[in-house]
Amino acid sequence: MSLMDLMQAHLRNVKPYVPGKPIEELRREKNIEGEIIKLASNENPYEPIEEIRQAIVDELSQVNRYPNSGCFHLCNELASHHGVKPAQIFVGNGSNEILDLLVRAFVNPGEEIVYPWPSFIVYPIVTQLAGVAAVEVPLRDYRLDMPALRAAVTKKTKIVFVCNPNNPTGTYVSSQEVRQFLDGLPDNVLVAFDEAYYEYVTADDYPDSIALLRERPNVIVTRTFSKIHSLSGLRIGYSVSHEDLVTCLHKVRQPFNVNSLAQAASIAALRYMDRVAPRVKENRDELHYVREELEKLGFTVPPSQTNFLLAMPPQGCGAVVEQLMERGIIVRGMKPFGYGEESFRVTIGTPYENRKFVEALRELI
Ligand SMILES: Cc1ncc(COP(=O)(O)O)c(C=O)c1O
Repeated sequence: MSLMDLMQAHLRNVKPYVPGKPIEELRREKNIEGEIIKLASNENPYEPIEEIRQAIVDELSQVNRYPNSGCFHLCNELASHHGVKPAQIFVGNGSNEILDLLVRAFVNPGEEIVYPWPSFIVYPIVTQLAGVAAVEVPLRDYRLDMPALRAAVTKKTKIVFVCNPNNPTGTYVSSQEVRQFLDGLPDNVLVAFDEAYYEYVTADDYPDSIALLRERPNVIVTRTFSKIHSLSGLRIGYSVSHEDLVTCLHKVRQPFNVNSLAQAASIAALRYMDRVAPRVKENRDELHYVREELEKLGFTVPPSQTNFLLAMPPQGCGAVVEQLMERGIIVRGMKPFGYGEESFRVTIGTPYENRKFVEALRELI
C-alpha cells in the first residue's frame, strides 16, 4: 500500500499548479550569474508605490496580532470605491482563493462547472478538487465563444467561469456578448466574471459587470491586487456579489485568510489609485511595441487588453522558449494549454526588459 492509495480517489490525478519559473530557480538550474528577466507570470514589473510600502511598514509593528478577520476596513474602502454595500465585498488570499471557495460552497456531487479553454489554469484545478465534471468550451479565434458557453449550460451546471479578459490569450468579450449570454440564463447557475486584468482594459465596450449585480444575484465579479497594484507576493484579491453569496463564502473560508500587511497595503493601493495611472499607460504603449516587434518576426499575436501577449511562432521557429531561458529571459511556454510547441505568453515588462526580450528574440529567429 502506498500513501497515494489512502488519498481520496478523485484527488489522486490532480496536477498541482505549475507557476512561471522563479528567477532564483533559473539562476540555479542554468548557472546564470548575470541579469535574469522574468516575463512569465503577468506580474507588475515595478515595485509597489511608496505610499503602499509605507502602509506595509506602518503595519509591521502589529503583526504579533491576528489580522482583522473579515477585512472590515478594506471592505468599507472597496464598497465606496465600487458604489456597493460593504456586505457585498469578500476578500480572499488572492482571487484564486475566492474561485476555490466558490466551488466548495456551491457545487454538489454530480453537478458541472463550465469554463472556456484555453483559459486560467485554476478553473480545471478547483473543478478537480471538488470531484465534479468540467465542461470545457473551446475558444474561437482566441476569444471566449459566449454562445457556445451558453449552449454548454445544462440542468447540471452550477458555475460558469468567464475569464474576461482571458488568460492566456488576452482577448475580451463585450458587454453585448455578456448580456446575450446572461439572457434567460437560469438563476440557479452562478456566473463568475474573473476580471484579474480589469485595470489594463481600454476597450469602450468592455462590460460593467458590477452594474449587472443590480439585476442578477447569480453574478460574482473577482478582481485582484496582484497585477496593477504590484502586490502578487502578498496574496490578496476580492469579489463583489450579492450579500447572501458573501455570507456563503464566509462559511467556507479559513479564519484570518487575509494577512494584515496585505489588508493595509490594499487600502493604500485604493486610496492612491491615481498614482498607478502612468504605469497603466506605459504598459499599454509597451504592449503595442512588443506586439509590433513580434509581428515583424512572423508571430501571430491576438489583440490583448491585458499586460501580456500570446505569441504563436512562425513555421520552422526553433526552440525559442528554452533558448530565451538560456539567455536569462523567462516567458511562459503555452504547450500545456494545447497551443503549439514553441508558442508562449510574454508579460509586458519595463521598457528596458521589453527591449532585451525583443533583442534576444531577434537573434534567435
Ligand atoms: C485570469 C486570472 N485570474 C486570477 C488570477 C489570480 O490572481 P490572484 O493573484 O489574485 O490569486 C490570475 C493570475 O495570474 C489570472 O490570470
